[in-house]
Amino acid sequence: MSYKFGLIGYPIQHSLSPWIHEQFMQKEGVDGSYSIIEIKPDNNFLKQVDQLKSQKLSGFNVTVPYKQKIMPFLDEVSEEAQGIGAVNTVLNDNGKWIGYNTDGIGYLRSLAGKFPKLLTEKDKRILLLGGGGAARGIYYALVNAGFYYVDIANRTEQSAKEIAALHTAAETNILTLQDAEQQIDAYDIIIQTTSVGMKPGQDSSIISLDKLKAGSIVSDIIYQPLETNLLKQAQKQGSSIHYGHTMLLYQAQYAFEIWTNKTVPIEDMDHQLQLILEGR
Ligand code: ATR
Repeated sequence: MSYKFGLIGYPIQHSLSPWIHEQFMQKEGVDGSYSIIEIKPDNNFLKQVDQLKSQKLSGFNVTVPYKQKIMPFLDEVSEEAQGIGAVNTVLNDNGKWIGYNTDGIGYLRSLAGKFPKLLTEKDKRILLLGGGGAARGIYYALVNAGFYYVDIANRTEQSAKEIAALHTAAETNILTLQDAEQQIDAYDIIIQTTSVGMKPGQDSSIISLDKLKAGSIVSDIIYQPLETNLLKQAQKQGSSIHYGHTMLLYQAQYAFEIWTNKTVPIEDMDHQLQLILEGR
C-alpha cells in the first residue's frame, strides 16, 4: 500500500515536516508521499476542505492558521485534541476524518527523551512561560501525564487563566512575568513557549534567569536559533538545557504512529535536524 500524507497551513513553504516524514518513510520502508498543501487565508476554506476530501489523503498535518478551523469538518476528535481545543494531525480512517493533537505529547516525549527520570518525578515544580497555542498543548500533556505543580506566567493574565482551566488535576498558580523572574528559584523545570527570543529577535529573552535554582532544567521550544538567549543564560548558571527542535521530531513521530502504527526511532535524526537548522 502507498500512503498519501500532507500538510495544510499558511505559510508553509519552509516547513520541515516533509523532510521529517520522508525520513520516517525511508527508515520504515514505507511507500508514500508527503506534500505541502498551502491554503491562503483569503481562500474559501469550505471549498478547500472539499478538495482535500477528494484527494483521499491517508492523513495530514494541520498548522497555523487552521488548527481550530479544521475541527468542525472532522468526524471524530480525540479527547486530548478536544481538551486542547486544537488539532494538528488528521487520520483518514476509511473515509472518516479523526483529529488528534500531537504537540503536547510530542513535547513530553522530547523532554523524557533527554531526561528519562522525569516521568517518575511527577512532584517536580514546573513553570510554563507563555499562554499561546503551544502552552495550551504542553500544559494539557503535562497535567494529563500526572504532573501536578504546573504554574503559568504570561504577559496576558486572561489567557493563562484559560489554560489553567483546561485540566482540573493540577494545582496551578498564575504569575506575572515579573513574579516569575523573582520566584524562579521555586521551580525545577522552566518551559519557555513564547516567540520571544526567536530570530530575528534572538537577543531578547522573556525573563532573566539570575535567580535560577541549582539543578534545574530550562527548556525552550524555539529552534531558530537552536541555542536561545534564555538557554545561554541557563547554561551559564549550570542548569541542564533542552532544545526546541526535538519537539518537532517527536510530534511528527506521534503523528506517523497514528497514521501507520509504526513508531520510528528518531535519535539519529536529532543531529541531522540540528545541521539543517544551523544552515538556515
Ligand atoms: P503559539 O500558538 O505558537 O504558542 P501565540 O498564540 O501567538 O503562539 O502565543 C504567543 C505567546 O507569546 C503568548 O503567550 C504571548 O503573550 P500574550 O498572551 O500576552 O500575547 C507571548 N508573547 C509574544 N510576544 C511577547 C512579548 N513581547 N512579551 C511577552 N510575551 C509575548
